[in-house]
Amino acid sequence: MAVMFFKNIAADLDAMMARDPAAKSRLMVALTYPCFHAVQLHRLARPVYLAGFPTLARMISQFSRFITGIEIHPGAQIGQRLFIDHGMGVVIGETAVIGDDVTLYHDVTLGGIAPSINSAAQVNTKRHPTLEDGVIVGAGAQILGDITVGKGARVGGNAVVIKNVPENSVAVGVPARIVMPKECGNEFAAYGIPTQDLPDPVARAIEGLLEQISRLQTRIANLENELDGFAAGTNGTLPAAAAESGGGDGVELPRRFGRN
Ligand SMILES: CC(C)(COP(=O)(O)OP(=O)(O)OC[C@H]1O[C@@H](n2cnc3c(N)ncnc32)[C@H](O)[C@@H]1OP(=O)(O)O)[C@@H](O)C(=O)NCCC(=O)NCCS
Repeated sequence: MAVMFFKNIAADLDAMMARDPAAKSRLMVALTYPCFHAVQLHRLARPVYLAGFPTLARMISQFSRFITGIEIHPGAQIGQRLFIDHGMGVVIGETAVIGDDVTLYHDVTLGGIAPSINSAAQVNTKRHPTLEDGVIVGAGAQILGDITVGKGARVGGNAVVIKNVPENSVAVGVPARIVMPKECGNEFAAYGIPTQDLPDPVARAIEGLLEQISRLQTRIANLENELDGFAAGTNGTLPAAAAESGGGDGVELPRRFGRN
């Protein structure tokens, strides 16, 4: 049990280090990252909630919210290595389910849309979203209702998601629409934005043109050097054999081909 506890803590610290370019050490994360504190306090609150002490559990989660700005209802199920970057303003509802290796940025809401929660039936109904493994949710996004964001999907900043999001897709806008995803591979993409070399056809064409310009510049420089050599050896005139155009016995070099 204790071994498991410390293993989870180590895994949390490593996940936060790996996913935040600003994290410099495990000690820094443990002391200063609100996500780390909120997740540990949730691990305390949830068994209390499941044991039938919802008020005590809520007191723990409200204390956690007070010190971190992250509100995780003790009823929410959270997988391994959750990372909430910055934290402030995040709300995770009672029946939300979060898989492993999920990343949320600040101001994210995993909320309910039940218009009324007066009946006991509605209280026990799943009202909040499920985020499958590896999901990344941008800052300010709201994911509302009993919907599923599929494995590896990314949700854009400030999106309002009210329908299921397929695996490995990207959802943006209000209400959220699915857009063509860039290839992320299996690597974690900070801020949900892949940084690998992408097959952008316009960029490729520009790269090709730049390479051609560079080759032409080299050829021009070589030709200028050769002409300089002729100018030095022939007092500024090209021998007829060396002159490819002009047709006379000797061709005056244009001034620009001279040394000065
Ligand atoms: C959604 C996201 C993950 C997509 O990144 P991407 O794969 O690089 O996608 P692109 O930038 O190519 O955008 C694809 C399309 O979605 C649109 N789009 C991207 N992000 C959007 C957003 N947040 N809201 C609305 N539209 C968005 C783009 O305009 C583009 O539309 P188009 O195809 O009509 O031109 C990323 O834009 C994002 O919002 N990440 C969250 C960043 C964040 O919260 N940072 C906080 C750091 S503290």
